[in-house]
Amino acid sequence: MTPIVVANWKMQLGVAEAVQSGTTLLQLLTAKPLEATVVVCPGFISLPYLVEPLKKGPIALGAQDVFWQEKGAYTGEVSPRVLHEIGANYVIIGHSERRQLGETDTDVGRKLMASLVHHLQPIVCVGESADERAQGRQEVVVQQQLEHIFRSAPPPRHGHMIMIAYEPIWAIGTGEAADPKEAEVMRQLIQQTLRDVTPAGQLDSFRILYGGSASPENVAQYVGPDRYDGALVGGASLDPHTFYSLISACAQAH
Ligand code: PGA
Repeated sequence: MTPIVVANWKMQLGVAEAVQSGTTLLQLLTAKPLEATVVVCPGFISLPYLVEPLKKGPIALGAQDVFWQEKGAYTGEVSPRVLHEIGANYVIIGHSERRQLGETDTDVGRKLMASLVHHLQPIVCVGESADERAQGRQEVVVQQQLEHIFRSAPPPRHGHMIMIAYEPIWAIGTGEAADPKEAEVMRQLIQQTLRDVTPAGQLDSFRILYGGSASPENVAQYVGPDRYDGALVGGASLDPHTFYSLISACAQAH
């Protein structure tokens, strides 16, 4: 199984910078291909500008969020149908930075359902805060997030792939990645919870990614056979050379 490496560019790059970063990454991956599924998630405005340059290469495009309705009077929202129409194939859902702005597990479940209907492969983020971990509640928190999300979303249909990204909030953008042993405990918990909340035999539809200060230097501590299936990467994905090294480390670890 090849690792999945997802770049979350957040609101860090302008359109020209995003195109530049995407095309440089494409050049690197074309010159020296790597055994990995690579997805970049630029801001909404940059997305259509990257479709053409990345069209024939090995980089897939994803959005950083989506609305759960496909059409209607929803000022400011972005439709899953339109994302698919312009060429996005993946979408990040429930990132902690969106949750901090008020997104709930119910919203995440609706977005998950809408993205599956519209052929977007969802990357659903879960993870505990620093306080929750200090209280030893990380397992309960992540378990409840998954239970709530899947209560409002259907079980995956055949051929649908759902990625769950475990991103401890305190590790995001801090340079303080999770302890690999603790991250592994969480991966196993996520796997068990998915087994409990989805119908028998559906576990194959899931991939579990690690996110939170992942870097070329530390990513092989998380990703590999019988470990995480890939990584969701913020800061270390902005520079295409650094991101290429990180993808390479994942490919070697697998
Ligand atoms: P980071 O961000 O790699 O900069 O910690 C990860 C994320 O927010 O998805």
